[in-house]
Amino acid sequence: MVTLIPGDITVGGVRLHNHCMLAAGVLGTTGASLARMLKSGAGGVVTKSIGPEPKEGHKGPPCVAVYDGAVMNAMGLPNPSREFIRELDGLVGAPVIASIFGGTPPEEFGEVADWFAGKVQALELNLSCPHAEGYGAAVGGADPDRVEQCTRMAKESGLPVWVKLTRM
Ligand SMILES: Cc1cc2nc3c(=O)[nH]c(=O)nc-3n(C[C@H](O)[C@H](O)[C@H](O)COP(=O)(O)O)c2cc1C
Repeated sequence: MVTLIPGDITVGGVRLHNHCMLAAGVLGTTGASLARMLKSGAGGVVTKSIGPEPKEGHKGPPCVAVYDGAVMNAMGLPNPSREFIRELDGLVGAPVIASIFGGTPPEEFGEVADWFAGKVQALELNLSCPHAEGYGAAVGGADPDRVEQCTRMAKESGLPVWVKLTRM
């Protein structure tokens, strides 16, 4: 049983309403769904991952399957790229964290990070996605130097940067 600790808490430079957050995923696809999660009690919300170019993702459905007692997903990082920013218009000042990704060179992280300056409270770098060739875990993987480069680029936006790693 999860016990929610009510009240504001600061995590990684972000003031959250409580410690229960929406992880990056389908409910972070629109401003309306992000707002709904906050209204429903989430202490903070993370957007679906946004990258340097619009991306359709894998052909589907299904993008989620139950397998051997576990739930697996593979969406292929579908996202509208920079167009997504307008979804945040109604969420100024809210505890929203933008999940971003890039490929190589790591400057792509800097480019996408800059779009979110002044629009969100922090960035989460998607260096974890295991199923999108050239992105996510393929960039972060087990290479600390690349992780450092991507983080450095994203930090130039002036926003706090969270790094979502993989277990590869
Ligand atoms: C349908 C679906 C879409 C997801 N999309 C993203 C994404 O865009 N970016 C990301 O960093 N993680 C994404 N995730 C991963 C989740 O944020 C989370 O890390 C993962 O589901 C593990 O947490 P869980 O064990 O509570 O499910 C997605 C997960 C699911 C199931």
